[in-house]
Amino acid sequence: MSPQNEVEFIQKSEKIEPPVAYKRNSYVRSMAEYQEKYKHSIEDPASFWREIADELTWIQRENSVIEGSMPDFSFFPGSKINVCQNCVDRHALDPKRRNKVAIFFEGENGERRSWTYLQLHREVQKFANVLLSLGLSKGDVVSVYMQNLPETYVVLLACFRLGILYNTVFAGFSPEALRERILSSNAKAVICANGSYRRGKVLNLKDTVDAALRDEHPVQHVIVFRRIENLEVTMDPTRDHDYEELMQKASASCEVVPLDCNDPGLLIFTSGTSGKPKGIVHAGGGFLLGTYAYSKYQLDLRDEDVYWNTADIGWLTAHIFVLVGGLALGVTTILYEGAIDYPHQGRVYEMIERYQVNKLFSAPTAFRMLMKYGEELAKKYDLSSIQLLASVGEPLNPEAWHWLYRVIGQNQVVINNTWGQTETGGTPLASLPGATPMKPGSCGVPFFGHQLDVVNQDGQSVPDGTPGFLVIRTVFPTLARDVFGDRKRYVNNYFAPMPGVYFTGDSAVRDSDGQYWVLGRVDDVINVSGHRISTMEMESSLIAHEAVVEAAVVGQPDEIKGAVPVAFVTIDKQYTPDEELANALQRKVIEDIGSFAKPERIHFVNVMPKTRSGKIIRRMLREIIEEGTVRGDATGLEDSDILDKLIAEVKEDSANR
Ligand code: PRX
Repeated sequence: MSPQNEVEFIQKSEKIEPPVAYKRNSYVRSMAEYQEKYKHSIEDPASFWREIADELTWIQRENSVIEGSMPDFSFFPGSKINVCQNCVDRHALDPKRRNKVAIFFEGENGERRSWTYLQLHREVQKFANVLLSLGLSKGDVVSVYMQNLPETYVVLLACFRLGILYNTVFAGFSPEALRERILSSNAKAVICANGSYRRGKVLNLKDTVDAALRDEHPVQHVIVFRRIENLEVTMDPTRDHDYEELMQKASASCEVVPLDCNDPGLLIFTSGTSGKPKGIVHAGGGFLLGTYAYSKYQLDLRDEDVYWNTADIGWLTAHIFVLVGGLALGVTTILYEGAIDYPHQGRVYEMIERYQVNKLFSAPTAFRMLMKYGEELAKKYDLSSIQLLASVGEPLNPEAWHWLYRVIGQNQVVINNTWGQTETGGTPLASLPGATPMKPGSCGVPFFGHQLDVVNQDGQSVPDGTPGFLVIRTVFPTLARDVFGDRKRYVNNYFAPMPGVYFTGDSAVRDSDGQYWVLGRVDDVINVSGHRISTMEMESSLIAHEAVVEAAVVGQPDEIKGAVPVAFVTIDKQYTPDEELANALQRKVIEDIGSFAKPERIHFVNVMPKTRSGKIIRRMLREIIEEGTVRGDATGLEDSDILDKLIAEVKEDSANR
């Protein structure tokens, strides 16, 4: 859709009211109620955050609520809180919740087990003692290379208990990607599973860890959880430990460490506009405050819910809405290990039916996949328990929205398309499910205490209905506090582009009802199935291959994945532009970044469209693959003759495959 058509579509979009039955049980039940509470939260943000803080357990509470401004701000400075205590202890010590199931786990192989809050409490304390016994304590960093397992939750909660910064690395990332994260965070320990099931195959995670640690590194301990009984791995007796052996020796009682609300709590790497991934630092206490508030009001999480968020623990969504936000609210969650369409396409439905899931949170990509599998399949299962479907990470297109509403939701459901980023540590935009009229494709309204705006290049607000840059004007507790070890990059990336506001890097439109529609990135980041990939990072990987002279990567729209990366390369004359070289280049990207970043196609070209200052104009490459021609302004080209040549080359190259 062209930007003009897009805006027309937004202005005309229909409004669907949340089901009456849902409204009755929602924390906010009408737009008027939302608007009043929102207005008050912007006029007096401290009162809103104080209200949230009052629902949490504090070790010590001071009066001050918000101090400073972007980029140096703090929430409840001097007050002491512990994330783990709020997510585990307070439920385990509550007679009404202690025997409630915290986690229902299902492995891809069919294994099932569950833990109550009381059991979780015991395991977490033991593992915290394990960490202490290895000499790890507040301020240290550990890398966690595990898939969705109850033990992964134990590890992360134990880190929160002690103030150890954890960094989860998606269990599927290559040795190089893992190594880079270990080195840049100076991790003292790695905690991994020996292996993981994925689409029926076994991934040997310990082998990846060994490969990542081949050369010099800061890691003193590797703790290996034996997920797959008979998967043999090599254990280095000077460095590696068996999880179970350590747990057997550990005592089940470990005090929580009092932490300042602004102390760093977790570290998560994400792609930015430059080649190297950034280690985003979130404050532990701040993350708890915010994620508790988002989970409560945007998902209406309640004691009686059976809530399944399919996000992998390698992505921040699982930390926001399950590990911290979800557990802080004391809900029953479902944790699933592998591919949600394995061993059969109806696996998601089968699990919804088995546990009577009433709130399902997943990625738009996964929802589009279900749509592709068809309506007949969905009809074979009892999905009547579903009340809320939520998603984050990429646009939820109106077609998928309607399909979900009708087929999975049976027209009696709330769909909440939330917007957030690794850096925002939560979702500043979303529906308040019982209050906001739903508009298919919209990302809803600003959350309490968050002042969002759409502005032009000069930072001035644009009228409703006009696309512009999405910015956030107020500080909030889950906003990233730093880029690990690189304060300058933090300030330059997020606060320098437009002084006084947080620059999201996204473009958006606000409609006349105050709902926001996020249109896409304004920088060189592409979103493949919700995985953020820096095109620069992919280009650096390609250029490092000896045959490649220049590389440019662009995103091509894809029905299921949202976008797929397509690479354009010019190569050294000594090499032949053939299938073998294309395969080798694809393998290189997979090795350097991970399989999700594999370029869908490699186009060998002789020339690149460039500006006079020598910058590759990626927009033109995007237009060539999408429309076979360049429609936008071509006057910035250094050599305007090259366009026809380039278009012909891409056509020929595509025809040859
Ligand atoms: O471009 C926006 C897109 O995803 C980016 C953030 O990606 P990541 O940091 O991986 O997200 C983690 C989520 C906690 C954003 O800058 N994005 C996210 N949600 C939406 C979206 N684009 C459109 N619609 C959304 N609902």
